[in-house]
Amino acid sequence: QAGVFTYDPGFTSTAACDSTITYIDGEAGVLLHRGYPIDQLAGQSHYLEVCYLLLYGELPSAKQLEDFEQLVTNHTMLHEQMQYFFRGFRRDAHPMAIMVGVVGAMAAFYHDSTDISDPHQREVASIRLIAKMPTIAAMAYKYSIGQPFVYPRNDLDYAANFLHMCFSVPAERYDVSPVLARAMDRIFTLHADHEQNASTSTVRLASSSGANPFACIAAGIACLWGPAHGGANQACLEMLREIGTVDRIPEFIERAKDKNDPFRLMGFGHRVYKNFDPRATVMKESADEVLELLGIEDNPVLQVAKELEKQALADPYFTEKKLFPNVDFYSGIILEAMGFPTAMFTPIFALARTVGWISQWKEQLADPQLKIGRPRQLYLGETQRDYVDIENR
Ligand code: SDX
Repeated sequence: QAGVFTYDPGFTSTAACDSTITYIDGEAGVLLHRGYPIDQLAGQSHYLEVCYLLLYGELPSAKQLEDFEQLVTNHTMLHEQMQYFFRGFRRDAHPMAIMVGVVGAMAAFYHDSTDISDPHQREVASIRLIAKMPTIAAMAYKYSIGQPFVYPRNDLDYAANFLHMCFSVPAERYDVSPVLARAMDRIFTLHADHEQNASTSTVRLASSSGANPFACIAAGIACLWGPAHGGANQACLEMLREIGTVDRIPEFIERAKDKNDPFRLMGFGHRVYKNFDPRATVMKESADEVLELLGIEDNPVLQVAKELEKQALADPYFTEKKLFPNVDFYSGIILEAMGFPTAMFTPIFALARTVGWISQWKEQLADPQLKIGRPRQLYLGETQRDYVDIENR
């Protein structure tokens, strides 16, 4: 039929793109970044080194890493005039709304890194985005709680600097806990990239039109916000709080199984993983470590999460449908224990995922066959018909 798109069931025709950055085996629960397993990177590396690996394809030498970290550190401040942009938002604006707006507006402040045909400008935009996202996320948080913005410090590492910008106040000394900084860094690493998820595919599609890097990343942030995607960490913690106590878990598990009930177990299931999300395993260990450090290992929300996971994985509905905890199931528990409100969970995901978006954006632009993304459709609407004047309808 005219206009009907012939759908090819073969996998290759549905692959969004070629890529050499991240590999996922959903059945085996494997996640590799440039060939390195995520559990090794989370345990032995740190976020900026993983950023280097994702961006340039190889682990850096000591000198390369030192230069890269210095370059990022020197770009953590935001153009001073952008403060006025923040002040235009209502105080109760969701930090993701602020991030989408501020990152998109960066094109208006950093004119010298918007021309994607210039490799140097692409590189400058990449570094600026990775370096400034913690500052933007922290400023969004400070603005939402009515506290003054805190400038980045060059003597702190990436994760410690973010905690400093979020939690220090001019009125008193704030020393960043090395263990919390390590846990924060690990959360960044676990969220760095994840193949062609919805927000990364959004960035790739936007970049295929030649849009500037700040607009492409703002598009990714907007997509990540959804509760089925990056918003799940906030939705999961709100769900755990709603369940409240272990004895209410069976009620919610039955609701999640009921096709007539829109309720889903947040932090459970995945489009690709049909086994444990390897990031969830590392996140669960980190949750135990952080809560023990903070002396709240008996945190009721963590107890509910662990019992919910145990009961769900003992239920054939979940195991037969291969629904396991994903990266969002435990991350919110750690972030809340660190002092973040739930509204900051997805901005932290966006901050960490920026390097993945940027790496995939650069890979897309390097493709000599680059054509604008233009998906087709299976048209199921009316066949052609003539206009009818209103008096004859
Ligand atoms: C992220 O793509 C990425 O890589 C994303 C991400 C990344 O790093 O970028 O990993 C981050 O987005 C993780 C996912 C976060 N979202 C959530 O935790 C929200 C809760 N999860 C569900 O909404 C759901 O699992 C999805 C959206 C993630 C996937 O949904 P699908 O595609 O429907 O999953 P599926 O096809 O495997 O579902 C199989 C069945 C379906 O039932 P049937 O139609 O077969 O009867 O399981 C059901 C689903 O309805 N199901 C659930 C469920 N997830 C799927 N039932 C109850 N609770 C759930 N959480």
